Amino acid sequence: MNDIIGVDIGGTKCALSVPVGDGRVEEVARFATTDVRATLERIYAEIAKLAPTRDAVFGVSCGGPLDAKRGLILSPPNLPGWDRIAICMELTQRFGGRAFLMNDANACALAEWQFGAGRGCQSMMFLTMGTGMGAGLILDGRLYEGVTGNAGEVGHLRMAPDGPVGYGKTGSFEGFCSGGGIAQLARERVRTWAGQSQLQTLPREEITARAVGLAAEAGDALALAIWRDVGTRLGEALAWFIDLLNPERIVIGSIYARCEKFLVPAMNEVIVREALPDSARDCRVVPAELGDEIGSYAAVAIARYHGARTS
Ligand code: BGC
Ligand code: NA
Repeated sequence: MNDIIGVDIGGTKCALSVPVGDGRVEEVARFATTDVRATLERIYAEIAKLAPTRDAVFGVSCGGPLDAKRGLILSPPNLPGWDRIAICMELTQRFGGRAFLMNDANACALAEWQFGAGRGCQSMMFLTMGTGMGAGLILDGRLYEGVTGNAGEVGHLRMAPDGPVGYGKTGSFEGFCSGGGIAQLARERVRTWAGQSQLQTLPREEITARAVGLAAEAGDALALAIWRDVGTRLGEALAWFIDLLNPERIVIGSIYARCEKFLVPAMNEVIVREALPDSARDCRVVPAELGDEIGSYAAVAIARYHGARTS
């Protein structure tokens, strides 16, 4: 019998997680995200195996845009075909209880705030920096969601008229700094790079952010130049966020957590140059701490967040 179930719906995989005591969380099912109906049916079948109580609380974490108030997934860029899916209604019709939908980055912000690199902060920003780029905001001691739960959709912000595409927009923050964007940037730079690079030996589709990270580890000059470019764009965006929010900490997941050392020099140079000096000094930029488990903690955090507030 389970009374809290976290559902993480990602572009490539879905996972279900439950609390296991002491604030810890355990993933209990994981499967590929396929077309919308088949994936939803699989989610419901896996939930049924967990035998939720009739007053269970479901937390659903998903990429935006969405309507958190109405529990609707609104065709996120990483979930083609997931158009106006009333996930919360479907869950409560089948299982009873209560269901809450939250943007994945917002949920990750809650998770890092409670259990990770944001512990003890009053104001922090979390950035996913994975396949996509999303943000979650903890401001003055509480999660800031905006009117419909779409606050922090920073991947959509345009930084330049041209550039890699992210969130359906050229030159967006997601275009320049997400995994998808870094791959585009690298594929472009490989074509024009005059020197030798191990990235040139890879088939186009294998030139990914991960491959650029591995090449940089081996000292590859092109890979290091790509990380400098990404770090510069990341620094520009962080300088805006620092000036806008005056946060105490900015916690960044996934790619940053793996490739921090390649990004930090250019990133810091830009922050120092662009942001208000006092605000920049008071803000620490740190890697996320929850690693691969962040999605599980995030989904369960949604249920806990709403469960604690309304029960
Ligand atoms: C989505 C955001 C999400 C981010 C990370 C973006 O493409 O639009 O809502 O937070 O990816 O998954
Ligand atoms: Na967000």
